[in-house]
Amino acid sequence: MNVLTLAGDGIGPEIMIQAVNVLQAASNKFELGVMLEEGDLGGAAIDRTGLPLPDDTLAKARAADAVLLGAVGGPKWDTIERSIRPERGLLKIRSELGLFANLRVAKLYPQLVNASSIKPEIIQGLDLLIVRELTGGIYFGEPRGIRTLDNGEQQGYNTMVYKTSEIERIGKVAFDLARVRAKASGKAAKVCSVDKANVLEVTELWKQTMIQLQESDYTDVGLSHMYADNACMQLIKNPKQFDVMVTGNLFGDILSDEAAMLTGSIGMLPSASLDEHGKGLYEPCHGSAPDIAGQDKANPLATILSVAMMLRYTFQHEESAAAIEQAVSEVLDDGLRTGDIMDTDSSGLTLVGCQQMGEAVLAKLG
Ligand code: IPM
Ligand code: MG
Repeated sequence: MNVLTLAGDGIGPEIMIQAVNVLQAASNKFELGVMLEEGDLGGAAIDRTGLPLPDDTLAKARAADAVLLGAVGGPKWDTIERSIRPERGLLKIRSELGLFANLRVAKLYPQLVNASSIKPEIIQGLDLLIVRELTGGIYFGEPRGIRTLDNGEQQGYNTMVYKTSEIERIGKVAFDLARVRAKASGKAAKVCSVDKANVLEVTELWKQTMIQLQESDYTDVGLSHMYADNACMQLIKNPKQFDVMVTGNLFGDILSDEAAMLTGSIGMLPSASLDEHGKGLYEPCHGSAPDIAGQDKANPLATILSVAMMLRYTFQHEESAAAIEQAVSEVLDDGLRTGDIMDTDSSGLTLVGCQQMGEAVLAKLG
């Protein structure tokens, strides 16, 4: 199995070191034969080549079985021409590799119940999956740009578009995963599709397509619909009403950050972005956090948990994935906390840096 690592910018390199150590340890322990290769993306790539996704990185990514990504972006590249900013590199690699299905699991580790800003009884036992469409919608729709109107005023514009086929394929991923999760939990399978069908035609088609898909192929899975604004509210009010949420690129971006905070910190949230064949790019949901970069303060757990997702979805090796998740849980049991997941009451807890957190997970993995 060949894995390409793209550490990226900001805290990317430091969290990547810890995640790679964990991946290598898991590979040795479970004899997975993981071969690692490095590449650059985002600001790091701009500095070397002038482009956020150089051709050699894309070629390596295509050749690899899976890609592990840190984070991209930072103030240094915020003022360069928009079309070659670091974030465009991330969007391009998602699109070029056809990674249309972004899975973001917001699962509360019981040890972190007091690290969240939400009351414990609201989030206890929380385990929800956001399935975000990742290669379409307003992120990629044309036309887009900033133009000058006849009166000299500037106007920014983007286009939100979804074809039936795009909606169907992400819908299938959500319904299929709802079935898998229901089997594991013993609860009924259910999907909540998030749209803004009261205003946007594009999401009216989204909603209709989800209804038709459920009626034709997934009558065993419950389907509900919610407007995106209400979904934001319900996620805070009663997040446990959800199991699988499926939505477009923009709403998924927003809802997944919100869901992350239910779990205490976005530093805990891993993600998988999959193509039609299960090939994937795995990355933490958080960004490059330039304010704490290079200070050994970052939480490496989201990236380490992204490694677990890689083993589960691309390598289909549940045992090693579960072992990593178990190791993370045990480290939290031991009271180790990076700053972002520290309780207000820190008694019995130990504040650790990125490296120490990574090494502790490694030690548990054995
Ligand atoms: C995410 C990020 C990206 C996105 C940015 C960095 C382009 O916020 O992965 O959620 O908007 O998709
Ligand atoms: Mg985001």
